[in-house]
Amino acid sequence: MRLRPGRRHMLQAVLLMLWTSGLLWLVAHHWLVRPGDYGPQPSPLEPWCLRAHGLAALGTTGFIGLLWAVHIEPGWALRRRRWSGGLVFASALLLIASGYLLYYVGDEATRATLSLAHWSLGLAALPLFLLHRVAPRRRRRR
Ligand code: HEM
Ligand code: HEM
Repeated sequence: MRLRPGRRHMLQAVLLMLWTSGLLWLVAHHWLVRPGDYGPQPSPLEPWCLRAHGLAALGTTGFIGLLWAVHIEPGWALRRRRWSGGLVFASALLLIASGYLLYYVGDEATRATLSLAHWSLGLAALPLFLLHRVAPRRRRRR
């Protein structure tokens, strides 16, 4: 159930790309808008962040499938780190669902709410993941 170092490093690299691209998009979207001849111009960084984010999101979704088989089910059966692991897993499912909807929801107001929910949970997912990663081992019963 413990991840092989190669897999663990790959997973962490993909998660770092996912989180950083989302954060950079937020920075670009809110603070790097420039005035133009026809009104405020979005930063050219924005589409690049979304391209990177989409790639990392696909990688993460694939990893969740692998983790289900080699990590999540075995870890759950052993009753170890259930709380922190369950929270990370639930966040991943909600992020996948809201990310999917972000592609197809057309109504502006609904999309804005969905976007806020998606990235707030996304930002919170990093501390949750770190908490899970370093959660203390449970003492064995005698
Ligand atoms: C209910 C779901 C989960 C359970 C029960 C669970 C359980 C565990 C346990 C018991 C460990 C400690 C491994 C050991 O020291 O032997 C661990 C570590 C870890 N978990 Fe999870 N986990 C879950 C979900 C997840 C998810 C969704 C991710 C990633 C998105 C993840 C990533 C990691 C990583 C990176 C480590 C540290 C590296 C390692 O020890 O292999 N886990 N998990
Ligand atoms: C498994 C996890 C995740 C998946 C599957 C996912 C998927 C997606 C998808 C499909 C989009 C729409 C892209 C587009 O419109 O071109 C999106 C947008 C976004 N995501 Fe994620 N994402 C995940 C995690 C995260 C995390 C951890 C963050 C952290 C900050 C984040 C922040 C954002 C932001 C800021 C946007 C742009 C919102 C908007 O267009 O209004 N996402 N995500």
